[in-house]
Amino acid sequence: MSMAKETLKHTSTGQFKTKLGVIWATLGSAVGLGSIWRFPAEAQQNGGGAFLLLYLICVAILGIPVMLAETSIGRAGESDAVGSYKNLSPRTKWWVTGSLGILASYLILAFYVVVAGWTFHYLWDSITGSLYSITGSQTAATMENYFHNRMESFISSDISPLTASFIIIGLNIGVLMFGVQKGIEKMSNLLMPILFALLLVFCIYALTLPGASQGLEYFFKPDFSKITWSVALNALGQTFFSLSLGMGILITYSSYYPKSTNLVSTSATVSGLATLVAILMGMIIFPIVFSFNLDLNTLRGTTLVFVTMPEVFAQMGGSQWWSILFFILLLVAALTSTISIAEVSIAFVEKQFKRNRITATLIVMLPLLVLSALCSLSFGSLNDFRIFGLTIFDFLDTFTTNWLLPICALGTVIYIGWFAPKGTFRKEVTNNGTVSNRLFPLIHFMVKWVAPVLILFILISSII
Ligand code: PFF
Repeated sequence: MSMAKETLKHTSTGQFKTKLGVIWATLGSAVGLGSIWRFPAEAQQNGGGAFLLLYLICVAILGIPVMLAETSIGRAGESDAVGSYKNLSPRTKWWVTGSLGILASYLILAFYVVVAGWTFHYLWDSITGSLYSITGSQTAATMENYFHNRMESFISSDISPLTASFIIIGLNIGVLMFGVQKGIEKMSNLLMPILFALLLVFCIYALTLPGASQGLEYFFKPDFSKITWSVALNALGQTFFSLSLGMGILITYSSYYPKSTNLVSTSATVSGLATLVAILMGMIIFPIVFSFNLDLNTLRGTTLVFVTMPEVFAQMGGSQWWSILFFILLLVAALTSTISIAEVSIAFVEKQFKRNRITATLIVMLPLLVLSALCSLSFGSLNDFRIFGLTIFDFLDTFTTNWLLPICALGTVIYIGWFAPKGTFRKEVTNNGTVSNRLFPLIHFMVKWVAPVLILFILISSII
């Protein structure tokens, strides 16, 4: 191995220390705002149980193989999303795929920290009690109006949401400066068990509500007549989003995996647990919706988190406490995901421009203050500024989720299936022949044929 290549590799502190650290950190990336509020809203808009069924199929046939493709590139390439391709296939242009992933992750981070900031603000308002300053007994409609207007006026004001997103960027800097083991791994080990505990508390509460079974039936009983191409496409999109695929996160994180990590069991565990979180969210939201007689049709992303849930809490005993717990849950989910998204660019600057950890963190995070401010202000003063008819926030969201992510994922599977040095995938999936490889032919077939065809299909259908 040449000296130049050696210098791009990680030092031992750039590695997760324990097996559990590997799982918590990767799971922390996957379980984010996308899985927690996007999933129930998508399920509602795409026929409940029918969507769940298609989502489970997509995770199995696409999620796990693409996850394995990305983790193989990262662990074999031993560097960031660009460096790993350069190490594996020097003198080729495959690193461009990695650089597109870095671009996607940076743009996603810009709008993701804005929504994470909203959750921080709502947590703060729950702690001070001001979120529930609505007094006396109110009709459901008055309550809904109150929380709706509150959200609208908050996100369209300039200063408060901007401050909140800056606080999130600050928290990210605080963790990321400490590096992989002392920052990311420690934080994930601490926060992820809390997230699961909170989810269980909410789940037990929701399942004991009168009328919970109606909600469960809606969520679990697939109505096959609701399965259409567009529902299938949305299930595929949700799979990418919720498993953090196609943006270099898993390439970067897996380069921190010890060589002994079993990639197949790690990918299966992370996908399984991330899916479990999504299912638990469904088991919380739908019983609540049915039990409180809420209108299923108003259950959209932002509304669900910032209007519907506070509305429910307002009707419950101890509303302030439930609200605090819920926004802590969301904030933890958002933070562990923003950290992983930011790490893609930080690792890139650290390795490719040979900067130390702290400088790399600042180089990446400081410009984000400007970019995220533009996204935040696009709900307020900059609302009239449109790109292709979309606000800055919506443009970044659409452009990255619908285009950049599938394009990068397509590049990744084509690379590992067809162009990576011979044997790389098998070597990584079987830990150099030391773990069972009975499933390898199937996984290889999925990555080489099924995944590229399906992803191309998504892309072409979004063009159409
Ligand atoms: N998987 C995380 C979530 O679902 O929120 C983080 C994330 C990754 C969000 C990639 C969006 C995305 F495109």
